[in-house]
Amino acid sequence: MKDSKDYKNFNRKENLKLSSKVVHGGDGVDPATGSLSFPIYQTATFKHSAIEIRDPYNYSRCINPTREELEKTMAILEEGTRAFAVNSGMAATTLVFSLLKPGDHIIMSDDIYGGTFREVNEVLSVNGVEYDSIDLSDLELLKKTIKKNTKMIFVETPTNPMMKVADIEKIAKIGHDIGALVVVDNTFLTPYFQRPLTLGADIVVHSGTKYLGGHNDVLAGIVVVKDSKIGEILEIKMYIYGAGLGPLDSWVMLRGIKTLALRMEKHQENAIKVANWLRKQPKVEQVYYVGFEDHKDYAVTKKQTTGFGGMISFRVDSMETVNKILENLKLVIFAESLGGVESLITHPISRTHTEISEEKRNALGITDTLLRLSVGIEDADDIIADLEQAMK
Ligand SMILES: Cc1ncc(COP(=O)(O)O)c(C=O)c1O
Repeated sequence: MKDSKDYKNFNRKENLKLSSKVVHGGDGVDPATGSLSFPIYQTATFKHSAIEIRDPYNYSRCINPTREELEKTMAILEEGTRAFAVNSGMAATTLVFSLLKPGDHIIMSDDIYGGTFREVNEVLSVNGVEYDSIDLSDLELLKKTIKKNTKMIFVETPTNPMMKVADIEKIAKIGHDIGALVVVDNTFLTPYFQRPLTLGADIVVHSGTKYLGGHNDVLAGIVVVKDSKIGEILEIKMYIYGAGLGPLDSWVMLRGIKTLALRMEKHQENAIKVANWLRKQPKVEQVYYVGFEDHKDYAVTKKQTTGFGGMISFRVDSMETVNKILENLKLVIFAESLGGVESLITHPISRTHTEISEEKRNALGITDTLLRLSVGIEDADDIIADLEQAMK
């Protein structure tokens, strides 16, 4: 039987800079028609050409050209061998967690996206996977937490919402010494600022809903792997789970990714201005931003990233100030999610981190006076003016 499924040998555009790669994607133009906007192959199934030929496209749950273009694009950007586009960041994390089996042990960042924690705590642990959630910026603690059955280290860096930074290269080394997979949630910095696979990680996951899509208009998740053997395992699991991203949403993602470089630069430029302004406000007690030179892990950030991104958390003096800010903001929107062009603010304790125990939240510093700001691409002066009037 002929197998015409040769799409893995695509042009990897190795000699291009990332800001060029984002514009030109995987194939870039449609190979069938030359269309510059990659077509939305809105179909569930494909006509077989003959009984003895295994066509590259058969059924959209397994493979769809628009999704495939997005997957090639993400494999190029993260410098992996294979990528999978699924229908949310949680679906991406779930696909990766499917590599674990009962009796395995996973170590993850303590200050992690609440949904990821919930999946480990309420699903994996019920299915016999043990876990520890620890401060992964503390490598000695990591070494002490490792068990004989540790099979995965799941790193979110910077963390959400406390902006702690973990040393990917060192964690990958520790993980590989014991044969564990090292997975990095790269949602906050994106491959524009941080490429975990080049630092030794095995797998990258993204909530594509955030900076990759970039416009708060699509839910998506991405998994990128370094080892093609893991790619083969995940490919089958993706067929089984039926989690593949639909063609229209894949196109929306491709469209968003084209401006990733420009957007990330602007998010960062604005975030630096806003973070420095916040620091000087009498009602603001503490500002957490990885771009501050006095951030505890600044040296690690400088070593492993090319930028700081657009996420800031800050603690204010009272719940009265929290309420004032959330009620009075006019431009910055009180909403969950992050990474879109619009500035969004959220209250982690009541929105994104409800599933973490009170005791743990207090230990981490996720208190009721903590706010998380996703700095958008509006004019920084307008964002600052809005925060200023809301705080008064
Ligand atoms: C860092 C991080 N990872 C994963 C997720 C889950 O992504 P999604 O909401 O697309 O399922 C989120 C969502 O907020 C997130 O912030």
